[in-house]
Amino acid sequence: MKVLGIETSCDETSASIIEFKNNEIQILSNVILSQDIHKIFGGVYPEQAFRKHQENIIEILKQASKDVGIEEIDLIGVTAYPGLVGALASGVAVAKTIAKILSKPVIPVNHLWGHLLVNFKSIKPINRVNTNKKYLGLVISGGHTNTYILENLIPLKIRKLSSTLDDAVGEAFDKAARILNLGFPGGPIIDKLAQNYQQRIKNSKEIKPIFPVPNPRDYNFSYSGLKTALIRYVKKNPSFDLEEVCFHFQYAAIKHIVNKMELILKENRFDGILVGGGVASNSFLRTELAEIQDKYGIEILIPEPVLCTDNAAMIAITSIFIYLSYPNIPEDFDIHPNEEEGLLNWYTG
Ligand code: KG4
Ligand code: ZN
Repeated sequence: MKVLGIETSCDETSASIIEFKNNEIQILSNVILSQDIHKIFGGVYPEQAFRKHQENIIEILKQASKDVGIEEIDLIGVTAYPGLVGALASGVAVAKTIAKILSKPVIPVNHLWGHLLVNFKSIKPINRVNTNKKYLGLVISGGHTNTYILENLIPLKIRKLSSTLDDAVGEAFDKAARILNLGFPGGPIIDKLAQNYQQRIKNSKEIKPIFPVPNPRDYNFSYSGLKTALIRYVKKNPSFDLEEVCFHFQYAAIKHIVNKMELILKENRFDGILVGGGVASNSFLRTELAEIQDKYGIEILIPEPVLCTDNAAMIAITSIFIYLSYPNIPEDFDIHPNEEEGLLNWYTG
């Protein structure tokens, strides 16, 4: 079976075709256009996102289906929530139109589940992983910092465990970059500058943290205090060392996630962890998670960087899990900016 995925929830316009054969997933194409226009605004500008999706989606679809004709598609998966309303609507309109013309089913996909389930592209066959493994999910992106319990993969049963009380971690990186007059998106720039500092201090014995690691209640996250601490620090120290500040900001932002993951692992039992979202590319996070993997003897799956950011392959992959689990999902679904409202459309588990 060949599956077309469409992703337009934020500032990436993406289309992908995957093949699902003998319970194995293969990505045949995954074309991603990152909208540069938002760099001017230092953040995603919803009106522009929607216009750019409309301008580019057909060309992106053409590129994705260069080697596989659209007429060969058996199933379509499209991000229906959460995201920017106009942006979501552009992708869903195209997906529904193609589905109608081809008389094939179209599946509304939760973008955040996509960030987690893309990890299964390398695990084969699907039916070997679906039965009795319970996964912890961590989505860390520009809009979300959520943990999930994946009770079951087919039928898919996922429930949210915790989230951020204020800013998302990627948003915190982007805001920090704005405060420090760096570009957008801020995460990769701060990551690079922090690595430079790490090189400079690699022989130092003790590093005194500048910023406290946030620690809100339960399994939740919080980044507004860290942002305020950064603003205060740069005001008080006008000749601050940029690489040093980036290093310490990243240290506190990532340690916060790692500490919460450890707390969850100490109090719950999981067979593995799935990580996804743009911030999952972060070099310090990857090092820290590798240590957690060894310390707790638990398998941690993180996608390669191109599959961490928003892409349509993750949507196509997730649509297979949903289709196999809930084949009777209504085709007249709506879009939703918010995850929970989107789920109410069809998911009752
Ligand atoms: O998942 P994504 O592409 O889009 C959303 O769904 O939000 O994530 C984008 C976010 C941005 O906030 C960006 O700054 C952050 O991911 N990001 C990073 C890194 N690469 C991207 N944050 C920290 N370190 C990175 N290496
Ligand atoms: Zn995302």
